Amino acid sequence: MDEELKKKALKKCYFMRPDLVMPGIMEKNNILTNVKNFQVRDDDVFLVTYPKAGTIWTCEILDAILNIDNLEVLKTRSLFEKIPMLELGPSLHPDLVADGVEGIPSNIKAILDPCPSPRRIPTHLLPEYCPDQLFTKKPKTVLVDRNPKDYLVSLFGWYASIRFLSPLDWNEMYEIYMNGLSEYGPYHSFIKSWAKYENEPWLLWMKYEDLRQNPKGSIKKITTFLGKNLTDSQIDDVMRVTSFDYMKKAMETVKGRDAYLNPKGVWQRKGVVGNWKNAFTIAQNEAFNKQYDEEMKGYEHLKYKF
Ligand code: A3P
Repeated sequence: MDEELKKKALKKCYFMRPDLVMPGIMEKNNILTNVKNFQVRDDDVFLVTYPKAGTIWTCEILDAILNIDNLEVLKTRSLFEKIPMLELGPSLHPDLVADGVEGIPSNIKAILDPCPSPRRIPTHLLPEYCPDQLFTKKPKTVLVDRNPKDYLVSLFGWYASIRFLSPLDWNEMYEIYMNGLSEYGPYHSFIKSWAKYENEPWLLWMKYEDLRQNPKGSIKKITTFLGKNLTDSQIDDVMRVTSFDYMKKAMETVKGRDAYLNPKGVWQRKGVVGNWKNAFTIAQNEAFNKQYDEEMKGYEHLKYKF
């Protein structure tokens, strides 16, 4: 592993709660134990994504479905109320954790316990780090996958948008990913670990691209999965309040925005499929494909056709 690159990646690690910054490493703060022992409620709805796969979008879709009779509530929620992440704080890449990364202990109890039911809980964690009760209580869980090349370009844009990060050079971002040093570790590990649960009735495996191409059909699918019965016009309402343009505008004035995003920062950056073509060089694309093919051996059905 390139030590310089690793140091750079570590410095760039981001954490979801800037207001909880304090020194300490994961083990020292029992973060993993706290997350593993987290009390899951039967009616919790979990959302599993690799970062930049459309987490906040799907959160809003789930919230709109769960609050269909009071969509106004979505407007009043602060950024942190919109995505009270279940996470550990420091990056979970084993090499990075072993190094004792300074990070933000995730105070999940304080964040998630007061949330009224049904809670909607997003996480980027691998299943092995998720609460044990996720696999015994088996609450409804939606997983959203995204073309990893678009994910990487989205992450690149993200570094330029977040207040406590500084923009990375595209080539550095690419190398960080290719060396498995992105926050939360390699994309392939995430997909392969969750693939174990792909056919479980409590897990709905979705794709960002399907949501983008067929929002109505995708929202209906999620609605059915959640056991909700929405009318056609209610589904249209969910679509309306979760459309890219609507969310982009709402996010400009959302409470808590400035604690998180820099003045020019955007969460709803482009929201398109295939944007990677504007960033990857031919050589980068070839190397990416080679690594992807090797890593995804045995998981061909989950592979993207680029
Ligand atoms: P891009 O950077 O490619 O534009 P996350 O919430 O996991 O960080 O994901 C962010 C990505 O989801 C960004 O992708 C963002 O534009 C996209 N996104 C956010 N809201 C969206 C919406 N309503 N419709 C489509 N894409 C959305």
